[in-house]
Amino acid sequence: MKIEIRAQDLLSYEGDALIVNLFEGVERPGGSTGAVDRALGGSITAAIRRREFTGKLHERLLLHTVGQLLVARVLVIGLGKQEEFTLDRVRSASAEAMRHLRGVGAKTVGSIVHGAGIGGLDADQAACAVTEGALLGLYRFDKYKKPDDNGKKVVRTLTLLERDKARVATMKKGVRRGRILAEAVSFARDLVNEPANTLTPSELAVRAKKMASGCGLSIKILERADMKKLGMGALLGVAQGSQEPPKLIEVSYKGRKGKGTGPRLGLVGKGVTFDSGGISIKPSEGMEAMKGDMAGGAAVLAAIKGIAELKLPVDVTVLVPATENLPSGTAQHPGDIVKAMNGKTIEVINTDAEGRLILADALCYACERGLTHLVDVATLTGACIIALGSVRTGAFTNNPELMRQVKQASEAACEKIWELPMDDEYGEQIKSDCADMKNIGGKKAGPITGAKLLANFVGKTPWVHLDIAGTAQAEKDSGYQVKGATGAMVRTLICLAMGFGGVVKS
Ligand code: BES
Ligand code: ZN
Ligand code: ZN
Repeated sequence: MKIEIRAQDLLSYEGDALIVNLFEGVERPGGSTGAVDRALGGSITAAIRRREFTGKLHERLLLHTVGQLLVARVLVIGLGKQEEFTLDRVRSASAEAMRHLRGVGAKTVGSIVHGAGIGGLDADQAACAVTEGALLGLYRFDKYKKPDDNGKKVVRTLTLLERDKARVATMKKGVRRGRILAEAVSFARDLVNEPANTLTPSELAVRAKKMASGCGLSIKILERADMKKLGMGALLGVAQGSQEPPKLIEVSYKGRKGKGTGPRLGLVGKGVTFDSGGISIKPSEGMEAMKGDMAGGAAVLAAIKGIAELKLPVDVTVLVPATENLPSGTAQHPGDIVKAMNGKTIEVINTDAEGRLILADALCYACERGLTHLVDVATLTGACIIALGSVRTGAFTNNPELMRQVKQASEAACEKIWELPMDDEYGEQIKSDCADMKNIGGKKAGPITGAKLLANFVGKTPWVHLDIAGTAQAEKDSGYQVKGATGAMVRTLICLAMGFGGVVKS
């Protein structure tokens, strides 16, 4: 979809539909919505008076014009209460409006930049959010099945209309950034939605290579032999049950201009392209969702794509340990003891707790590469879904300062996270009789014991672990989320990199 911004009055826009908005409880619309209302002979005011439309968040009123405007339809989208207005509501209102208009067959749509007028938001930020919302709300994974409309209903152009010429240049910047952010999220969504018979570890490496060459990034793929040489026994243990060779994908971006060594951000993502549980096999119901067990890997690859396209002044390296977790005659057994790259041994009590095993080696490798700050993203524990549902990503750290920055980034991106504790006592739960640790810690505090295991492989390096088990996939369309992969944490990681160069001391 093309997104353009024009210094033009709303009323003179010629196309299939026009989007305006209304805050909840407003009786007489002002600004652009008021102007459109007057052009329509007061139809919006009439609908408000009859209580057919109240401006509640995501509420929609579709009006058909009869010669009063140069568009066939006007869609009024509810923004909710003005005192509760946020940038995230701009994103979701934009998404809901665009999905509605695609549904009625609109191909050319004009819109006001929600929030930039009466909403009082920064023009650049509002334009960015409208763009993100439109692109993410219209996202579809329709590679294997034509949508119900046979793929005919496609919005070709979205024109953002702004009367004040002086604001157009700033808004253009916002649109450009919004597109980069949304395309990064869509890249992650595509990878997560792709089934495991197509997206094997090798295919994930191929997609990462294509992305890297498209963005001018350097990429290295470590093969099984390299992992053996490096002593990555934990990663190899998980991979040994599958016919598909494991890959450790390493993508680097150098954006820092200064000389000498500075902070180097490492983003590590779990890349299990299918998690059957291994010998500790999962129940079959719902197992198909485990094609998305590489959502963390997808998020970090998508983030570095966005970071490179935005040319952020930071150095970033992405690591994705990619493998399948399958049962077979060669699969690891419960009770096996594996040795990670840093020499620590892990007793594998449950082969389904495989994410922490592959991340153990990837985190060791990240430290060895000299990365100074680490953030890992993983669909690590079902227990995190029990604790936080699909609303918030679980967050864990060994370093309050890095956590502060990750929280700040998550707030800027409007992607909710929630910090969980890491007290020493939780570490007791993963003590093993015969190895340095065991890979599960019992029923209690599952997300925390998972994080505690990971902490053994980062040493003193500042590190944040994000458990996206509950947030990586959505059950229904809502706002700019669509059913299926969400691309959770992609925008947060990009926002983290935006603040990183300047803020973090090396
Ligand atoms: N990939 C799963 C976690 C998961 C579950 C993600 C549901 C998304 C939705 C992970 O590898 C796993 O199986 N974890 C186990 C750990 C347990 C054996 C300690 C779990 O959560 O059941
Ligand atoms: Zn598992
Ligand atoms: Zn898993």
